[in-house]
Amino acid sequence: MRLTVEEAAMRDGSQGASIARAMDLLVRYGEALGAERLVKTRNVAGAYNASNPTVADMARDGFDRVFSELNLDSDDVVEIPHMAVPTQQLITGIDLDNYEIQGVDPKMADLQRRSEAYLGKRGINMACTCTPYQVGNVPVRGEHCAWMESSAVIFCNSVLGGRTNVEGKESTGAAGLTGRIPYWGLHMPENRYADHLIQVDVDVDDMAEWGVLGYFTGYEVEENQPAFRGLGNAPDFMKLKHFGAAAASSGGVEIFHMPGVTPEAPTLEAAFGPNDMPAPIVYGEAQRKRTWERLQHASERKLDFVMLGCPHNSIEQMGLIAELLEGRKIHPDTALWVHTPRAIRQIADRSGFSAVIEAAGGVVMSDTCPSISRKLPPGVRVVATDSAKQAHYLPAIAKVEGWFGSVEQCVDSAVAGEWLGVVG
Ligand code: F3S
Repeated sequence: MRLTVEEAAMRDGSQGASIARAMDLLVRYGEALGAERLVKTRNVAGAYNASNPTVADMARDGFDRVFSELNLDSDDVVEIPHMAVPTQQLITGIDLDNYEIQGVDPKMADLQRRSEAYLGKRGINMACTCTPYQVGNVPVRGEHCAWMESSAVIFCNSVLGGRTNVEGKESTGAAGLTGRIPYWGLHMPENRYADHLIQVDVDVDDMAEWGVLGYFTGYEVEENQPAFRGLGNAPDFMKLKHFGAAAASSGGVEIFHMPGVTPEAPTLEAAFGPNDMPAPIVYGEAQRKRTWERLQHASERKLDFVMLGCPHNSIEQMGLIAELLEGRKIHPDTALWVHTPRAIRQIADRSGFSAVIEAAGGVVMSDTCPSISRKLPPGVRVVATDSAKQAHYLPAIAKVEGWFGSVEQCVDSAVAGEWLGVVG
């Protein structure tokens, strides 16, 4: 690994022990990946907030110990200074306004409150969402970022034209302190071209259908880089968010190329660059139906819980859910949790959307989601969601049955207390 004079001095302790630890971690990490150098970043989004019994034990020695161990992989406790560059907390485990509904121990909520105060003093902003791009963190084209969270990474690379790999707790800790990240993978333009082609032979219209196409894509290409041909309808922001999250969950897709959408892919030819265009993988009616069926993990129609907002809802989605719920009541045996970033919740409150959702019996939650918190309403056995990503993870994580469908199907089913969607 070639370091600049400044970086070598940082590694050797010129800026203190924590920066030296961070630089040492980045060098070891980069060398393991075959990176030849580091690159500067001013955009870091990671996971720093931690609130579970293990962290509570560590925090007895102070939060510097928690950061040293979990975000710098350091056995020694080093004093953590202010972050060197803008740094953001991604989604976290507890909604401090709704922790009782989540079933969280008040001691853990208090731990998170103290953790947030510690992190905020060090310049880490508590956006607490898996969608940093919805709350003001919008990388410009070509910007080098250090982000965790697969749904955010794929959106950053493919829709915004930023550049990031899927980072981890330790590398984002070190990146926040140094403003550096190894230059490898999707930071390098030559690694960003498409290598798989998906031929879309059916109309892909509403958000659920985009989730299904994303799920098919990840399943087929795994960790590779697909481009698309035959898409008739240009997807909007909300559909791209669900599409990317699904592709990153059924596979490990970190970048896709949609000509006319992906900034560096104005044409299919540009998407492939020097790569040969391979034979297409066809997405037709049979593939659409099979993928839709693959997302259903339930047999019982009686519904205990409906989860909306994975990835976290935009304000447009909050407005749509409020419209669908206006004047209706959720079935008394069914819980509805709607997830949105805290910053968007403020707008939803002022717009009256939250009040409509709550009057219907729903809960508006921020900062977290059931897959991250591992908290669901008590006794849940059957879940429905409008998110292909959540439909992929929640049944496995929470050992529940799960239905997948459109937001309209989910809301109608929450009111009826049973799944009204179709299987395929
Ligand atoms: Fe976000 Fe949780 Fe879904 S982190 S993308 S709401 S699984």
